[in-house]
Amino acid sequence: MDSGWMRTVLVLLGVFGSCRGLQPDYTEQGDPELQSASGSSKYGSLWPLPQKVQISDVSFRLSVSGFRIRDAKESSAGPSCSLLQNAYRRYYEYILGGAGVKKQKPGKNWRSGPSELTELQVWITSPDSDCDAFPSVTSDESYELTVDQPVAVLKAPNVWGALHGLETFSQLVYEDEYGAKSINSSVISDFPRFAHRGILLDTSRHFLPIKVILANLETMAMNKFNVFHWHIVDDPSFPYLSRTFPQLSQQGAYHPYTHVYTPADVKMVIEFARLRGIRVIPEFDTPGHTQSWGKGQPDLLTPCYSGSTPSGTFGPVNPILNTTYDFMKQFFTEVSTVFPDGYVHLGGDEVDFSCWKSNPDIKKFMDQQGFGQDYSKLESFYIQKLLDIVTTTKKGYMIWQEVFDNGVKLKPDTVVHVWIGGGSNEEMGKVTAAGYTTILSAPWYLDYISTGQDWQKYYKVEPLSFNGTEAQKKLVIGGEACLWGEYVDATNLTPRLWPRASAVAERLWSSKDVKDISDAYNRLTVHRCRMVQRGIPAEPLFYGFCPHEYKGI
Ligand SMILES: *[C@@H]1O[C@H](CO)[C@@H](O)[C@H](O)[C@H]1NC(C)=O
Ligand SMILES: *[C@@H]1O[C@H](CO)[C@@H](O)[C@H](O)[C@H]1NC(C)=O
Ligand SMILES: *[C@@H]1O[C@H](CO)[C@@H](O)[C@H](O)[C@H]1NC(C)=O
Repeated sequence: MDSGWMRTVLVLLGVFGSCRGLQPDYTEQGDPELQSASGSSKYGSLWPLPQKVQISDVSFRLSVSGFRIRDAKESSAGPSCSLLQNAYRRYYEYILGGAGVKKQKPGKNWRSGPSELTELQVWITSPDSDCDAFPSVTSDESYELTVDQPVAVLKAPNVWGALHGLETFSQLVYEDEYGAKSINSSVISDFPRFAHRGILLDTSRHFLPIKVILANLETMAMNKFNVFHWHIVDDPSFPYLSRTFPQLSQQGAYHPYTHVYTPADVKMVIEFARLRGIRVIPEFDTPGHTQSWGKGQPDLLTPCYSGSTPSGTFGPVNPILNTTYDFMKQFFTEVSTVFPDGYVHLGGDEVDFSCWKSNPDIKKFMDQQGFGQDYSKLESFYIQKLLDIVTTTKKGYMIWQEVFDNGVKLKPDTVVHVWIGGGSNEEMGKVTAAGYTTILSAPWYLDYISTGQDWQKYYKVEPLSFNGTEAQKKLVIGGEACLWGEYVDATNLTPRLWPRASAVAERLWSSKDVKDISDAYNRLTVHRCRMVQRGIPAEPLFYGFCPHEYKGI
């Protein structure tokens, strides 16, 4: 997977070696030649770039017949750790699988015999490997990788770092000019800059088949993302099959059998994610964005009025009925047992007040409560009660920024999700000044598409560029790339998301000073081809080719 192929092409084109490939700032509509001219990075095709990397010019061949990934003798995780065994198999396949090794004489630079790499040993160093655990926001994801002859050693405190280290090892492997798998002697020491690195997928606006979700999780692992934010229901449809309230999907899904996520489906997604070190955080957004909930749960939504009579349409969740809270209590109790993560996302964004304003019972309630005309107080009344309910289920919660903006009283461990305001962000300053943990999505709405290399725009974001103290900056635990589902379904999700989300992956994982766009271009081009070789239809950055093109489905 080294970019020697690209070098060859560029030599043929006569552009290699000119400094035109090193433009610091490619513009979206700039000179195509500048945008495509590129060379290879001294970091090979590593993505996201590890914190500390040394790659030497000494290369080894992976022993074709004998190469193994195995537990180090000293490792605290033995063969009973199916998470690791599973990962060894996966990465063995990625590293050597389909290796069309041509039976050719070794080249002149290849020293036979001693320069074979026969083994990658994986050594879990802490007594508790976390093998059977779920990853969490406090999981240690660090690892150290030493590639030397005859064995490479991957050391990590627990399995989460080991998974990342396996991915990094696989990224060091490339095909030499004879098509043999090679790797250079290297020393890598790595850990993420931010603990929360997420992708939001929306399965309400379009239903996404399980297969697509799993392919996305697989690709997330290739990019060291660790949170799948599952925006599972919304206005258009309710595909989550609730055991307690089966009518919700029976009535609210696009189709009650073919367009739902059964308990077994959800379990499978969660386990598939866990095996890749990925948390699954479900979002059940209320009180707005709930039209689909109303179909299967009578009286949950507020009846809207036209003059003095009900118009037949419905608004947000009805916050003035006790039955609403009885329902929420049962529903979120179920959710807390189905989803093992410590957090659930409660939404709380974009509540439209017009229906509440039209309803005479709501008006009366507003008067009784002394809320006057301030409907954000009514929203806060609802959210406050909901947060109290979710707290009794022993979960932490994430909420969209409006809930904070409206002054709802939040638990100190609440994660505020900032989505309004694009690039530079005053809101990040406000949320952290109030002492809340926050994550950033505002600049990373990947459903907005344009021509050109918009990955660069995502790449250049600096999450800590807001005004604030060091203590405030520490409260930023990461971010999420969001792919809302209005224009996305199984046909176009993967190429739309990848490799554009890879830009966000590196921003959230790598050191703050990793921001050289042309080096990023050189690595990302090859990383993208690697995703393609692994069967992921990741779209191209610009013109060029991959040594192993996408083979279709
Ligand atoms: C790996 O080693 C080869 C020489 O064996 C060298 O040409 C290449 O640049 C090295 N790769 C990296 C990423 O340093
Ligand atoms: C709703 O609950 C409150 C507090 O528990 C109670 O005072 C009130 O009477 C209940 N309202 C109805 C309509 O049951
Ligand atoms: C930070 O604050 C200074 C002074 O108040 C202001 O000039 C500057 O624009 C702010 N920067 C950002 C990124 O908000």
